[in-house]
Amino acid sequence: MVLIERGHEVVVVDNFRNSSPEAITRLESLLGLPIAVDRLDLRDRARLARVFARHRFDAVVHFAALKAVGESCQCPLEYFDNNIGGSIALLQEMAAAGVKRLVFSSSATVYGMPESVPVREDAELKVTNPYGRTKLVVEQLLADVAASDPAFQVADLRYFNPVGAHPSGLIGEAPDGPPNNLMPYVCQVAAGRRERLQVFGGDYPTRDGTGVRDYLHVVDLARAHADALDYLVRDRGGLTVNLGTGSGISVLELVRAFEAASERPVPYEIVARRPGDVAEVFADPSLAYERLGWRAEFGVEAMCRDAWRWQALNPDGYRTRLAEAMRAR
Ligand code: WQD
Repeated sequence: MVLIERGHEVVVVDNFRNSSPEAITRLESLLGLPIAVDRLDLRDRARLARVFARHRFDAVVHFAALKAVGESCQCPLEYFDNNIGGSIALLQEMAAAGVKRLVFSSSATVYGMPESVPVREDAELKVTNPYGRTKLVVEQLLADVAASDPAFQVADLRYFNPVGAHPSGLIGEAPDGPPNNLMPYVCQVAAGRRERLQVFGGDYPTRDGTGVRDYLHVVDLARAHADALDYLVRDRGGLTVNLGTGSGISVLELVRAFEAASERPVPYEIVARRPGDVAEVFADPSLAYERLGWRAEFGVEAMCRDAWRWQALNPDGYRTRLAEAMRAR
């Protein structure tokens, strides 16, 4: 949406394995114009080649990946094939078509359990799960391609914890099954879809004993992609930046902020730590500001307000009829 609002022509390529075509329909409704979509899996080389033959792309913004840490531990090969294999197929078709700019959706998971916070981009990279390994491997593949072709430019964007929804309340995240991540789970507890939140650990060495993370509003995240694309188009070379607010929020602090924003109770119980979790991680986002002029503008109140609006208007996610969601606004 941000790219189109900045005048870019966008073609969406998605297999909709982890998203819904309804999100595109709603985007078209919000923008008042059609969006070109090609439904395919990046690993389908023949169909992907036809997309590159039909359009003359200036750049690619690459989001396509499976992204659940726990799931990746259960089926690593599927993550390697989808996330790394899909990226290789994309890079080969980009090379064949002479497309030499790529914005890559990476993740703070490449830092594993960081030695210190805030985390800078030169922190040690030590992944602790297959999902994180796919993100690190693709970053390294991109670096090798860029080293082989000086005209090829890459922007690696390392997301911390994206949360929230579009302020319209019409576009948001709709996980299948019980949400793995905190914010969507809190939304469903507040909506009465889940009985209570399980807080994974109350004995961490943090302000209130619960895990601290750097939550980032998805609209701030979207803006960063447009800024990174503009940076590459201005031929400024490649970059790797952290995308976070630079401040950490604990689980209980997020719960309290959500209760204030939604005016709904979020009952919880503190249970055992979740294996693999770290106590505290948040970004040093200063390089993104220095190179892109980007910094997060939304605080936790807006993140909770917009996440709740999406949940309240779309109790069944994208299965909620658009007219129904619009009426409830
Ligand atoms: C946040 C905090 C939990 C759920 C993951 C991926 C990372 C990135 C973002 C893709 C932690 C606690 C959570 C719950 C809880 N994804 N929590 N009860 O683990 O920081 O990062 O998502 O790039 O790669 O690892 O996010 O939302 O799962 O957890 O207490 O039901 O909330 O312990 O402290 P996480 P999260």
